[in-house]
Order: sequence, then C-alpha cells, then structure tokens
Amino acid sequence: MLTLVTGAAGFIGSHLVDRLLERGCHVIGLDNFTRGVRSNLHAALQSPYFKLVECDIAKEDSLARAVDMHLQDGARIEMVWHMAANSDIPAGVTDPHVDLKDTFMTTFNLLKVMKSRDIRRIAFASSSAVYGELACRLSEETGPLLPISNYGAMKLAGEGAISAAAEAFLDRAWIYRFPNVVGGRGTHGVIYDLLGKLARHPNDLEVLGDGRQKKPYLHVSELVAAMLFIQDKAPEKIALYNIGPEDDGVEVADIAQAVLDAAKVDIPLRFTGGDRGWVGDVPRFTYSIEKLKNLGWRPKMKSADAIRKAAEELALERKGKT
Ligand SMILES: NC(=O)c1ccc[n+]([C@@H]2O[C@H](COP(=O)([O-])OP(=O)(O)OC[C@H]3O[C@@H](n4cnc5c(N)ncnc54)[C@H](O)[C@@H]3O)[C@@H](O)[C@H]2O)c1
Repeated sequence: MLTLVTGAAGFIGSHLVDRLLERGCHVIGLDNFTRGVRSNLHAALQSPYFKLVECDIAKEDSLARAVDMHLQDGARIEMVWHMAANSDIPAGVTDPHVDLKDTFMTTFNLLKVMKSRDIRRIAFASSSAVYGELACRLSEETGPLLPISNYGAMKLAGEGAISAAAEAFLDRAWIYRFPNVVGGRGTHGVIYDLLGKLARHPNDLEVLGDGRQKKPYLHVSELVAAMLFIQDKAPEKIALYNIGPEDDGVEVADIAQAVLDAAKVDIPLRFTGGDRGWVGDVPRFTYSIEKLKNLGWRPKMKSADAIRKAAEELALERKGKT
C-alpha cells in the first residue's frame, strides 16, 4: 500500500512526508520544483520507503505516467495527500492563470487520475482564504464563501470538485482549512520575506501595510499533527476541519520584531502604509477550531510562540546557507 504526497518538496509537504515515513508509510512524493527544493527532503531521501518523482501535476499525462510507474506488480495507492498549489497569493492576483493551473488544475487532474486508477481517499490542503474578508469568527459553518483572492477562489473550487468526487467515487475525503503556517523549510510567507529583506537591506526593515494586520499563525509541526489526528479520528465521509491556533493572532509589526530578535539586529521598522499588505490579503481575521477541539485535538503553541519558533528556525537556516 502506497501513499502519494503532491507538493512533497515544498514547506508543508516535506514535513508531512517525514511524519508519514515515521508512521511506517511507503511514500511517493511528486513535485515540479517551482517552489519546493530537493534539500527539504534530505532525510526522507535516505529512506528506502520514499521515492521522489519530478512531475507537473497540472499536466494530466505527466501525472498519469508518474502514478502508473508505481502501480506495477499489484501495488495500490491507498491515499493521496494533495499539498501542491501555487502558494504565492499576489502572483495569482497579477495572473489568475497561476492559480487556475497550479491550485485548481492540479486538484482536477488528480481526481481524474484517482478515479481511473480506483484510488478512493484524498486529503486536501485548503485554506482560510476560502472565507474571504468576514468580520465574524470563521468556523466551518461560516458563509457565504466569497474569497477575495484568486488563490482562495481556486481552493474553494478544489473543495467543490472533491465534494463532487465524493458523490461519484471517493470513499473518504479530508479537507483542511488552515491559516498561515510557519516553520523551518519555509519557501514563502511573512517571516521568510522579512528575513530576505533584512539580508538585502540591513539598515531598516520594510513591512508591508501599517503593521496592524493581525492573523492567526500555526507552527508546521502542529499542522501536520492535526492533519494526521483528523485523518485517524474524524468520522465523516467528507471531514472538513479548520486547523489553527486558539488565540486571535499576532500583528505584523510584532512578527517583524520577532524576526529582528531572531536575527539579533536592532534596526527601525519602516511601514509602507495602508490596511493590508497586497491585493487579496485578508488583513484581520479570527478563527474557530471548536470542531477540531471537540474531536479531541488542540494546539500547544499560541500564534506568538509559533512565530518566535519559526523566526529562529528560519534565521538559523538562512545563516547555514550563507
Ligand atoms: N503555508 C501556508 O501558510 C498555507 C496556508 C493555507 C494553505 N496552504 C496550502 O498548503 C499547501 C502547501 O503549502 P506550502 O506552504 O508548503 O507551499 P509550498 O509552495 O512550499 O509547497 C507547494 C509545493 O507544490 C509544488 N507545486 C506547485 N505547483 C505544482 C505542479 N503543477 N505540479 C507539481 N508540483 C507543484 C511546489 O513546487 C511546492 O513544492 C498548498 O496547497 C497551500 O495552498 C498553505
């Protein structure tokens, strides 16, 4: 029995691969390396139970070939973890094709190939971006779902395609809606960007917006633990769960300060102004994880802990590369 992970070389995918191997799974990782890097899988690549295949999942024939090469001698793929997507929200605002291709078509093709190969279980990395900009605390019941980014729109379309596939052929589906995830091996995101700016401009640190944007943050180790917990425990055929911290989040100005602390530098912050970082950015939201808590899982870290830990991990990684 094999487990397929798409986006395996990316930030979250690579941490998930490590945990799945620890649980004794035989894992095939797919990635086209637009953002993911082989070095994220350094430990996994030492395992005889892990295979990494370069593949553009947005191309159906390329995906079918990558899957079929592992289905010889009666092998079966039991479960697909779909982590591949465009993770650069502003890129999808500039050119919506980016999200159509890497966020939606990857999901669409995967479902098509799964149906024809009789693979009946999928876990999907959706996003808090499906909720759009709503003032209320966001729970799985919140609606109407009107995303304000093309990324969020294509994630919502992916959820819809999975729901339709569950009616047609899937036995089980897990849809995880999470907000910002932080931690080592980051390939993007606020801490990663701030550390990059700090390296290029050591005299002050530019922060997008007015610094008052406030969002919940989850450490990647807790995200992976929660996804596996839900997979093990949730009873529903389509298990749709918010995953996040219990608190209301951290302001961007505080994240920038955590980055300066982790990098051990003392320079001024320079805000670009405005209430949001970019078009499609949801500047403030609060999250409900009551459903997940009722299932029996709660995070140990608050947003501020996750930010501090991730800033230290990423600063250390950057130091190792220079
Ligand atoms: N990081 C977050 O804060 C966050 C929040 C909510 C949801 N998500 C979702 O979680 C998943 C993982 O995100 P991440 O932060 O690890 O991003 P990431 O960019 O590090 O990982 C995504 C991986 O998918 C790969 N990929 C993209 N298009 C592909 C294609 N056409 N074919 C094959 N591989 C392709 C990329 O190379 C990358 O390695 C994504 O679906 C993302 O939308 C992430």
